[in-house]
Amino acid sequence: MNGLLNCVQEVFLLRGKMEKKTVPIIRERKGSDDKITMLTAYDAIFAGIMDEEGIDIILVGDSVGTTLLGYPNTIPVTIEEMIHHTKAVVRGTKNALVVIDMPFMSYQEGIEQARRNAGRMMKQSLAGAVKLEGGRNMKDTIKALVDIDIPVMGHVGLTPQSIHRMGGYKVQGKGKDAERLIQDALAVEEAGAFSVVLECVPRELAKEITGMLKIPTIGIGAGPDCDGQVLVIYDLLGLSGEFRPKFVKRYLDMKEEIAKGVRLYIDEVKKGIFPDDNHSFH
Ligand code: KIV
Repeated sequence: MNGLLNCVQEVFLLRGKMEKKTVPIIRERKGSDDKITMLTAYDAIFAGIMDEEGIDIILVGDSVGTTLLGYPNTIPVTIEEMIHHTKAVVRGTKNALVVIDMPFMSYQEGIEQARRNAGRMMKQSLAGAVKLEGGRNMKDTIKALVDIDIPVMGHVGLTPQSIHRMGGYKVQGKGKDAERLIQDALAVEEAGAFSVVLECVPRELAKEITGMLKIPTIGIGAGPDCDGQVLVIYDLLGLSGEFRPKFVKRYLDMKEEIAKGVRLYIDEVKKGIFPDDNHSFH
């Protein structure tokens, strides 16, 4: 009997893993014990690995600027760079929902600009949704995109594109500032977003917002009570150097592993150990 139960459980798990994740499927996970999992990816290889492991959402974040492209922050990232990386992620993905981040100044000028750029980004990258930063200030923009069938993931709290206003990457919504964040999250929901990222907010506030909203919240540095979680893949893998915010859990130390491989290679080439007979043609 136990064997049969295990088998049925496994089939369901496998189905969950293999199911094509759509915007309505993510939306319906609100309040479910089955937490939404989201990671960033910027290329086909990483996307393929995550997809095979059953990740729900792959976000091509504008964090590509700081993780891969060597920019000091996300401000310089362009629409072309976002499309380029998202096309690769889409090619590597079978089941996860791929979300493309709208970079700084690709939507802030107004509704027409946002519609034109979001439309182009969806058409050229084949992503399933866009993400943009902002709360009440972006309500009309989010609504305008949703009205033309472009699904939008919101993003409130610490919004890295506002780095210069915030004066650094600081926890948002502490004390009296909490009400501002609640109003921002409610505005994103009212505008029609299908989910919202809560970045760097006190866990109690994230819990309160999650309880108030009918759409899923996806937390990063927002505690365990959100409907889902997201991390930047390079942070999780230990590939982001000294950048170690409190909310990042390093599951691997890949920087050291890569350095080890490179060191060994240099050493073996210099000593004439590589290539040996096994790695040469006759
Ligand atoms: O750009 C990004 O990677 C993000 C996540 C941190 C949510 O916006």
